[in-house]
Parts: sequence; C-alpha cells; structure tokens
Amino acid sequence: MCGIVGYLGKKNSKEILLSGLKELEYRGYDSAGIAVLQNDKFDSFKAIGKLINLEEKTKEFVTQGFSIGIGHTRWATHGKPTELNAHPHVGSESYVVHNGIIENYAELKKELIADGVTFLSQTDTEVIVHQFEKNLKTSTSAFEAFKKTISEIQGAYATLLVTKSEKETIFFAKNGSPMLVGINDENEKYFASSDTPLIGKCTDVNYFEDGDYGYVTPDELTIFTNEDVKKEPLFTKLSTNKLSAQKDGYRFFMEKEIYEQSSVIADTLLGRLCDDEVLFDELDDALLEGINEIKLCACGTSYHSALTASYLFERYAKIKTTIEVASEFRYRQPIMTKDTLFVVISQSGETADTLETLKMAKAAGLKTLVICNVDNSSMVRLADACVLTRAGVEKGVASTKAFATQVTVFWMMSLYLAKRNNALSSQDIVSQIKLLREIPKSVKVDDEMHERIKRLSKRYLHGHGFFFIGRDVFYPLALEGALKLKEISYLHAEGYPSGEMKHGPIALADPELFTIALLPQHLLYEKAKSNVEELSARDSTICAISSVNFDKADDFIPIKKCSHYMLEFFEMMVVLQVFSLEISIRLGNDVDMPRNLAKSVTVE
Ligand code: F6R
Repeated sequence: MCGIVGYLGKKNSKEILLSGLKELEYRGYDSAGIAVLQNDKFDSFKAIGKLINLEEKTKEFVTQGFSIGIGHTRWATHGKPTELNAHPHVGSESYVVHNGIIENYAELKKELIADGVTFLSQTDTEVIVHQFEKNLKTSTSAFEAFKKTISEIQGAYATLLVTKSEKETIFFAKNGSPMLVGINDENEKYFASSDTPLIGKCTDVNYFEDGDYGYVTPDELTIFTNEDVKKEPLFTKLSTNKLSAQKDGYRFFMEKEIYEQSSVIADTLLGRLCDDEVLFDELDDALLEGINEIKLCACGTSYHSALTASYLFERYAKIKTTIEVASEFRYRQPIMTKDTLFVVISQSGETADTLETLKMAKAAGLKTLVICNVDNSSMVRLADACVLTRAGVEKGVASTKAFATQVTVFWMMSLYLAKRNNALSSQDIVSQIKLLREIPKSVKVDDEMHERIKRLSKRYLHGHGFFFIGRDVFYPLALEGALKLKEISYLHAEGYPSGEMKHGPIALADPELFTIALLPQHLLYEKAKSNVEELSARDSTICAISSVNFDKADDFIPIKKCSHYMLEFFEMMVVLQVFSLEISIRLGNDVDMPRNLAKSVTVE
C-alpha cells in the first residue's frame, strides 16, 4: 500500500523524508519519490524499486534551512510501476502525493485535457495537482483552490500538496486512507501514513478523521471537517516504542492483520469489479487461449486457497482443475500437457518448492500464472502473467490476510473464467459480483464475537487433539483452521472432510477430542450436520460454527446470517483465525514468531 510523508521545518528535510519513507517500507511499494521546496525552488526525485535507488539519486541533493517537502512510496494500482507514475506528481508549480484511489479521475482528466492540460502519468493522482492549478486561476488563495479541489474529487485519499504560491504551507486532506500530523516544540510539522516515521521526532500527534482537510504553516495547524467547520486538533502523546507503534495498538501483528482484512480485501477488489463482469487486465487472450485445464500448485496456506479455488473453478467456470502440493509435484515426474494453465500461488513469491514447480512448468512449455502478494518477487518475475493479491506486507508468520485475499482473487477469477466460458448466466454473474462486494463487511471482526472466543478459548488448551471438519470449500477452510492452530498453539490439529470421519478418524472420538465443526447454512448443511451428530453421539467435545443454532454442540460460535456460502466462508475464516490467536495467547506463545517456522521458506 502507498505511504506518505511530509515535513515542514528547518532541519534536513531530505533526510527526514527519506528516513520516514524507510519506516513505511513495511506497507509494500514498487517506486518512491520526494519533492522539496526551498529558497523558492522545487527539487523532485523519483526512482523505481527499493528506496536505495532514490537515495542514490538524491546523493548530491542538499537541504539547508527552512523547507517544505513531501514524499511517497507507491504501490501501483493505476498504471505500471514506472518513474513517471511514481509520486510526487507535478503541475506547473505544485506537487502532490496521494494514497488511495480517485474514483472520478477519468472524467476530471477528460475535462482537464480538453482545457489543454498535458498529463505525464497514467495515475489517478495526477488529476489532483492539475485540478488544483486550474482552481488556483480563479480562486482568491491557494487554500480556496485546494478546498475546491477536495470537494471535486471522489473516492479514498490521503493527500499532501505543496505549491510555489504558498511557500511555507503544506495542504492536506484525508478521506478513507490513513494519515496523521505530528508536532513538537521546534515549530516543525510532520505528516505520515502511520506513526512510526514520527517516533522520536514529534511529541504529539493528531490522527485525521475522514473528511478532514486543511493546512500547516510554521505557526499554524488548521483543520476543517467535511462540513467546512473549523475544528481543534485532538493531540495524543506519541508512543516511543517503534514496534508497538507498527502494531497500531494490537497485541500482535497477526491480530492486526486479522483486523486489517476488511480494508485489504477492499484493495483486492479495487478496479476489478464492474456491475456485470469481473476485470483482470492481467489475464489476456494469449494466456487463456487453448487452455482446457488449470493446475494449481502451492504450499501450506496457499495450497489451502488453491484447494478452495478448485471447487469454485469447476463449479462456476466449468473448467477442469487439479491441485498439487509443490514439494510432491517436484519429484513425481508429472505429465504436463500444453493445454494446461499452470498456476502457482504464493504470498511471498519466494517459496523454494513452489518456485521450482514454476520453473518445471515453464521448461515444459506450459503457460504460467502466479497469484502473489509480493511484486517483483522471484515468481512474479518468472511467470508469464501475475495477479497481485494486494494484502500489503504480512508480518505475522501465520498467514491470515494473504489467505483471505487469495481466496477473494480466486472467487473473482472463477467468475471471470465463467463469463469467458459461457458457463454461468449473466444474471448469476451479476448477483455474485454483488456478493463479492460484501466480503469486506463479512470479514470485519465483531467485538462481541472476539470477546466470546477469548472467553471460550480457555476450554481448549488441553485435550488430545483437534479435528476441524467441513465439506466442499469448508474442507480447505477446515485444513486452514487446523494449520493456524497448530502453527501458533503447538497443539495437534487436523483438518478433515466431514464425510471422511467415519472412515477411520472417528475411532479417536472421546470427550478429550475437540471437534471444530463448520456448518454453513447454504451448503450441504444437513449432510455436515449428520457428520457432526455422529461425533457428538461418541462424546467428542463439539464446538460448532454456524449461523444456525445447533443443539448437539457443547460450544457454539455464531456467525452473521449471510445470503451465500462464500460469505459464510469468510465469516468462519475470521472466527478460526481469532480462535487460534486467543488459544496461543493463553498458552503464552510468541504468536508472531512461532517456534521452528519462517515467514519465507526459501529452502527445500
Ligand atoms: C502458514 C503459512 C505457510 C505458507 C507456506 C507457503 O500460515 O504461512 O504455510 O503458506 O509456507 O508460503 P508462500 O505462500 O509464501 O509460498
């Protein structure tokens, strides 16, 4: 996700902006830039790739005395990660940085082009600076022009703008994307997307609320609400601990990442949904022409999302889909035919086994696609095509938001392929697109649910094991629930298809065996319920997760009523993640860095 920094003061603004961007690296980015106004002159630098490239470009650049500056790390949404698309974007005498998406940029751009404005980039952001300069011509002040510009743009934004017509002012506006301003007693002002860049530099910070806009000067911080009412900043003391600041008040990164799922999934969906079709610019005819089968290959959690995809692809797109554990596929001398699209799924894009299978598929002449969270990773560079999941940096070793965004991509992709194959009616596609838009709501963590699980977790700290059971797509979800629990609690847990229990595992059933039963109302409810009843009859301790009350359960975790099983999937996914988290915390384990595990498994 993009990151923003800003500085106004007498210190070395170049260093402050660059070090601020460094602190925002964790958000993920593919290019970066800064613009500084000092002694009546703007200097701006941009570079693609890591910050070191920008540092290299600014080596000779010196800042001394009073200046104002803005900086940005860009995570591409509109337009490729190129230098021209990197922020800050320039008008004739102003620069802007922006995080978010300007939804009405196309119409504003059209009008500006008709007025004779030349655009240098493919981004939505560039309209802000040109619209501002257009308004400046007819406004009494730069602030009036900025205010008018903000009222004209729609969408999500955190934005900073600097202009030669006000050499000691930074204009800001926030709606939907995070931003805060920090102060100290040296009359400096600092802006950032999160508080880490401000630690050690500011004493007090004001977190902007949606709709806030205004400006800072050396002596002033002026904020207006979206109703144009002036308001006092609400300062809070800034933490001095960087790690805890990055966690935004959550106890662990994993917890933060579970809570973030709603907003990152909104990013995953961004620009990919129309009313009646799913758009994937990344999947062109050349890639899909002549394909009769899809083979999905991955490890761990990514394998579970692939397994989920195999149900959706066959059901909705009517395309034969097989899945493979990468470490197995590598050595079993598999038959690979050229009418197969080979898809690897990886959060990191670096997992050694998965990467190797991608190389094998390429060597066999197959078309390849990677579903990945990390741009420019080895798999992204190697595959013919790439769909980025846009989950942002995942720090917790146990994957949560990466899985959620992978499944979101796969659900979208199943509809994309369904349309291409004429496998679903347009009406069905339209109604499923509406459901896709509801995922961010389904994964919002409900406080009451979290409290309930926290209380309940104390009953699940011992026993001789857990079975997570589900049918259909709830089977991969059961596998994922079991994996989460074992990774961070070190308790033995297995995922099973509900219908398989009676073929052996049911022999283990007794009160010390915990069964976590996934009972979706909208998919094979009666069948899954009978399987759970069989376990209940043998005295297994049952914890049921469902929107339908189930009286044979010892514990029951309700989810909201949903209209479709995939929304139930997402609701239950969050319950399972919180369940593992709370058990691990009660056991006193290191949730973010569980023993024996690494975030990126780059060895076989
Ligand atoms: C589990 C987990 C691992 C990874 C696996 C593959 O929480 O994170 O199982 O899913 O190591 O990693 P990626 O997706 O990076 O290829």
